[in-house]
Order: sequence, then structure tokens, then C-alpha cells
Amino acid sequence: MADTKIIAVTGATGAQGGGLVRAILADPGGGFAVRAITRDVQSDKAKALARAGAEVVAGNVDDEASLAKAFTGAHGAYFVTFFWDHFSPERETAEVRSMARAAKAAGVKHAVWSTLEDTRRWVPLTDDRMPTLMGKYKVPHFDAKGESNHFFTDEGVPTTFLLTSFYWDNFIHFGMGPKKGPDGKLALTLPMGDKRLSGIAAEDIGRCAYGIFKRGAEMVGKTVGIAGEHLTGREMAAALGKALGQEVRYNAVTPAAFRAFGFPGAEDLGNMFQFYMEFEDYFTGARPLAGARSLNPALQSFAQWLAANKDRIPLA
Ligand SMILES: NC(=O)c1ccc[n+]([C@@H]2O[C@H](COP(=O)([O-])OP(=O)(O)OC[C@H]3O[C@@H](n4cnc5c(N)ncnc54)[C@H](OP(=O)(O)O)[C@@H]3O)[C@@H](O)[C@H]2O)c1
Repeated sequence: MADTKIIAVTGATGAQGGGLVRAILADPGGGFAVRAITRDVQSDKAKALARAGAEVVAGNVDDEASLAKAFTGAHGAYFVTFFWDHFSPERETAEVRSMARAAKAAGVKHAVWSTLEDTRRWVPLTDDRMPTLMGKYKVPHFDAKGESNHFFTDEGVPTTFLLTSFYWDNFIHFGMGPKKGPDGKLALTLPMGDKRLSGIAAEDIGRCAYGIFKRGAEMVGKTVGIAGEHLTGREMAAALGKALGQEVRYNAVTPAAFRAFGFPGAEDLGNMFQFYMEFEDYFTGARPLAGARSLNPALQSFAQWLAANKDRIPLA
């Protein structure tokens, strides 16, 4: 159809972008077509997207020219960065600058940028409640995203700023699921005290982004926070226990203890959880559930996500 609007999607073979690709493909009468951007059009995941009906195009966020080419003719574009592939806030910042410049060069009419808070607005570097990391960050993978918002406004790209939440999928892929303790019982270890964590099914981020593209111009310039549910550690452990059919204890450690776990990114995540915990009212308030549901009526609760995904959570 001549008036079909193409949405170009970075991270299309991944969690957020993949959710958006599937949301667009699931709505063939919606007036949108999807262009999946990948570094390797021959990968199994890229080929699966092509078979499902997506246009698949090569592009690398570290190569601005390849991006501008990939966005040509697109009405909209979804931008996500890949912090955990390189752990470098400077590289992430450079990638966002390239994305914004490429979007401008291609004349993209609506960008959705998957961002997070620059936590230094709440916890300046002089505040020693949590350590400063990598010289100038509190939560590097948040701060670099929030700090980069201006690239889109500087370039004059019509942009919606999407504040995402903790993926429940981290219990499957990110090593954060319940683990067996010395007593053989499962425990969910999080440094959240009795505060609520804004969580979401990763798939729902893309579905919410599709809702933003469908609303169109009215969403440009807006910051939209999304979550599927705000739950305490105790509530998540109870829901996990119910779904898994065995007791899951909530093991509330301190942020300092979490930072000392020593795995790559432990300090960054320890600071992140401390930020969630100490600014609970701000963080959850910025992610109203009704707003996410209005963008994505299929928004899942944690119990719904668990019902569909419990068997994928590694318990060994
Ligand atoms: N985990 C959480 O709870 C959470 C919550 C909020 C925000 N986030 C943020 O989400 C971001 C990651 O998004 P995600 O989970 O959707 O990623 P993901 O599932 O890890 O997928 C990443 C995809 O991005 C593509 N990619 C990687 N490097 C690329 C490059 N240089 N150029 C082009 N494409 C590249 C890869 O596709 P190809 O191999 O096909 O090129 C890959 O399939 C991170 O920045 C993280 O901070 C995570």
C-alpha cells in the first residue's frame, strides 16, 4: 500500500526490537510495515524475521553511514543500544549520537528512543551514598542513555523518549533468577529491601513502542515511562514460588553486598537497584501502569508472564 508507513527497528533480532517487529507483523491492517536492522542478514534470527514478513536490512550502530542507508524511506525508527555487549558508557553515547544523526540525515518523522534516567540528576557525583563508577557515572548503563537524550533534540529529530523497566526476562537470561542456597531451597536475591521494582515482560516494551508509533505526532517530544507491574522482592518471590510449585524465599541483601558479588556489571547493577529502592516513588510514578496498558492492551502482569515463561527459568 502506498500509504504504509515503514518503521525501521534497531535491535530487531533482540528483546526490545524483536517485540516491536512482532507487534507490527501481528497487525497487518495497521498501516505499518517493518524493516528489521541487523548486522548479519544471514543469521538464523534475521532469516526467521524475513520469513515472518519483515524486510531485513543490514546496519550497524557503530557505522553511521550504514544506519542512514538503513533508515532511508522509513517513516519511523526505534532506537535501542546494547550496553551489555560492551559495558562502555562512552561507546553507548557515541552510538546514540550516530543514531540521531542518521535519523536526521534520513528524514525520519518519528523516532522512539529507548532510554533511562540519568541518575546523576538524583544522586550527583558528590553524593557518596553509592560509589562513582568509571570516573563519572553512578549507574553507567542508565546515565549514558539519559545523558544522550539531547542528541535527538539537538538534531531536531521528532522523538518520543521511552523509559523502560527491569525485564522479568532477566530471571531467564541475565542470571538473576532464583538460586538454590546451601539448604537446597530457592531464593531470589535482590537488594531492594521492601521497595517495589518496576518490571515488565521484554516483549511488552516493543508492543508499547508500537502503540506510540500508532498514536503518531501527538507523542513527539513526550517522555513515556512503561512497566507491567511494580512489585516488591517478597511479592516476586511469592509469585515465582506459586508458578514454580516450590517455595522461593526473598533474600534481601544490601546494595553494597550486591556490588561486591564481583560478576561483570555487579557494581553498576548494585547502584541501579539502590537507585530503584531509594527513589521508589519517583521511579514507579514515572511508569504508570495504566499508561502502558493504554498503549498496549495486551500488557502482561508478572503472573501472566510467569505462566508463559516459568519453564524457561534455569533453577540449577
Ligand atoms: N535487561 C533489562 O532489564 C533492561 C531493562 C531496560 C533497558 N535495558 C537495556 O536494553 C538494551 C539492550 O536491548 P535488548 O535487551 O533488546 O538487546 P538484546 O536482546 O541483547 O539484543 C540485541 C540485538 O542488538 C543487535 N546489536 C548488537 N550490537 C549491534 C550493533 N553494533 N549494531 C546493530 N545491532 C546490534 C543484535 O542484533 P544482530 O546480531 O542481529 O545485529 C542483537 O540481537 C541495553 O542497552 C540495556 O541497558 C535492559
